[in-house]
Amino acid sequence: MDQAAVLRMMKETDKGVHKMASIIKHEGDAAGDGGKENIRVIAVTSGKGGVGKTFVTANLAYMLSRMKKKTLILDADMGLANIDVILGISTEYNMHHVFLGEKSVAEVIVPGPGGIKILPAASGIQEMAELSKGQKLALIDELNDLNDGFEFVFIDTAAGITGNVLYFNMAAKEIIVVVSPEPTSLTDAYALIKLLYQGRAEKRILLIVNMVKNSHEAKEVFTKLSKATEHFLDLSIEYLGYIIYDDKVTEAVKQQRMFTEIYPYAQATKCLSSIAKKISRERPEKYNFGSMKFFSRAIVGGDHG
Ligand SMILES: Nc1ncnc2c1ncn2[C@@H]1O[C@H](COP(=O)(O)OP(=O)(O)OP(=O)(O)O)[C@@H](O)[C@H]1O
Ligand SMILES: [Mg+2]
Repeated sequence: MDQAAVLRMMKETDKGVHKMASIIKHEGDAAGDGGKENIRVIAVTSGKGGVGKTFVTANLAYMLSRMKKKTLILDADMGLANIDVILGISTEYNMHHVFLGEKSVAEVIVPGPGGIKILPAASGIQEMAELSKGQKLALIDELNDLNDGFEFVFIDTAAGITGNVLYFNMAAKEIIVVVSPEPTSLTDAYALIKLLYQGRAEKRILLIVNMVKNSHEAKEVFTKLSKATEHFLDLSIEYLGYIIYDDKVTEAVKQQRMFTEIYPYAQATKCLSSIAKKISRERPEKYNFGSMKFFSRAIVGGDHG
């Protein structure tokens, strides 16, 4: 990406950025009085759709769970390709029932492969953006009251930079941005990072480059994006790793099975495994998250529903 392209891209995103920045400003400090300091809440997001967020979320959660880390997936994509569907898990209740006050979060969570737990999305029924402040607060309180000793919570977000996506990204201290080598994936990721950065400077932004031919291609993508964020935003993003393009991924989706479970020796599995190990080796204290609550009620402060 040359400089002119970056500038063009910035100009295009600026309008949206300013609008959303004012919304994000309402967010308070997530450091609260609660003591769930061992939980790492990691949002998986992208800007552009179809780059592999759900695939990455499901498989990283699965691998961490296999490493005996208690892991929850919060499916925050109200679209159709949901985690439970991809994994062939039938669910009776979902987040919609939590919003309506009919079920508690604990009653809605279902077990998945390898011991992961899944909080299914309210698929297609109701956009988070339509939720009232009261409903959002109720969800946050429910999540905070979950006393299940989760170490990792992965939030699989929808594509785009809607209020819904930003709401869930705001709730996380760490954000994994998934990109593919496609130029539009890169520009969309940049637009999203810019938006998030204006909201909260202290977030960790980690990059996974998916669907690459080799590590060299991934490094090139990372270099382009990190140069742009460093130059224009004065923001360093971290390289988390890459995942090889593999036709068997689609095969696993068709079979409604976890890719890394049925293809343990695939190259893409090795890539995911090294990313999972990297994540598991890190200690949350290192990032000075303080006594972080699972979710902060303050993010609902300025009701942008
Ligand atoms: N490394 C890969 N190699 C080959 N195919 C992949 C890879 N990663 C993801 N895919 C395929 O790309 C498609 C999109 O993946 P996925 O649904 O995970 O993306 P997403 O970012 O969650 O999409 P959405 O924005 O719609 O939520 C799926 O068909 C998936 O099987
Ligand atoms: Mg998805």
